[in-house]
Amino acid sequence: MALDFREQVPLAPLTTFELGGPARFFVSVASEDEAQEALAWAADGGHRVLLLGGGSNMVIGDEGFDGLVIHLEGLRGVRFEDDGDSVEVTAAAGEPWDDLVARAVDRDLAGLECLSGIPGFVGGAPIQNIGAYGQDVSETIVRVRAFDRKIASIVDLTSEDCEFSYRASAFKREPDRHVVLSVSFRLEAGGAPALRYGELQRALAAESGGAAPSLRQIRDQVIALRRAKSMVLDPDDDNRRSAGSFFTNPIVPDAEADRVVSLAVAEGLVQEPGEVPRYPAGPGLSKLAAGWLIERAGIAKGTRRGNVGISTRHALGLVHHGGARTTDLLALAREVRRTVKDRFGITLVPEPRLVNCAL
Ligand code: EPU
Repeated sequence: MALDFREQVPLAPLTTFELGGPARFFVSVASEDEAQEALAWAADGGHRVLLLGGGSNMVIGDEGFDGLVIHLEGLRGVRFEDDGDSVEVTAAAGEPWDDLVARAVDRDLAGLECLSGIPGFVGGAPIQNIGAYGQDVSETIVRVRAFDRKIASIVDLTSEDCEFSYRASAFKREPDRHVVLSVSFRLEAGGAPALRYGELQRALAAESGGAAPSLRQIRDQVIALRRAKSMVLDPDDDNRRSAGSFFTNPIVPDAEADRVVSLAVAEGLVQEPGEVPRYPAGPGLSKLAAGWLIERAGIAKGTRRGNVGISTRHALGLVHHGGARTTDLLALAREVRRTVKDRFGITLVPEPRLVNCAL
């Protein structure tokens, strides 16, 4: 079937922020061949390309996108290949992420359980190396099938080729090069669930009284924790129009983290140094909690600036309340970044992809 290229298509409804202007050209694709056809059309016409999946990690500028937006929703299909102790699961880029996690947990396959309840599509998972509750996809991804626009052909990338790090990858560093078509994960049949994150351990211990939790229990608990922070897409939640965490947690030299801790103690923000959330992040490095820095810098949960604001449940969630423009959201993000910088000397980095707009 011939592709249906449309013009001036609103993008806001296709993003979880519900913000941003239209696409000059827009096409939905339902197969890898169609995706390649759409890319060739853009190349012929000299149009820039924006790949759109679940729109859950994207901020689109008010002017929209002056090129071709390719919507990957139609790229579907999941395949399980039994390999003895492990199972290789391959999912197409347009599969809803959480459906994949649910299917893996249903089959008692370990490796994705802590990533329950994350919005978006499978294709977005390797791009920002999605992670939560002590697990991330770099641990289980064995292959990413992608169209490499630089050499105009389909490539199979190994996990090493993807150069994963905290909330980052080769795809994020070179955003216009690859179109992720499908992702393969190696999961462990009957494997033990990952139980590494303090908050998750405490919640499960309170519930199970110490018995080893099942993958299903982990999934249910993770979703409950996320829901309590408005990090699950729920149509009845006033904090729902967001992109999850708006900033990444800063990874800084240990000495820099020590300085923040001393400052917090000296200024009476905490009683004990150990109260400042801080996690080891590789040799000589510490990860600080951006949500903590924002709150302690004086920006309270529930703060509003017109029709945008800070989530009432998590200081790292910037939220659109309806009727705002991207410009309003960016002004708030700048205010948050400036306030944290002035207070702690730490510069926060946005997590979502900013399209045709900047902080
Ligand atoms: N905190 C505050 N105030 C807040 C929020 C958090 O003081 O308003 C403190 C908490 O008390 C805690 C620390 O900050 O000590 C960390 O908070 P939390 O456990 O909620 O996790 P996070 O670091 O804010 C990260 C991920 C989330 C992921 C959770 C759970 C990033 C940028 N965010 O959030 O991922 O779900 O851990 O693992 O790494 C996302 O990337 O969009 C996302 C939601």
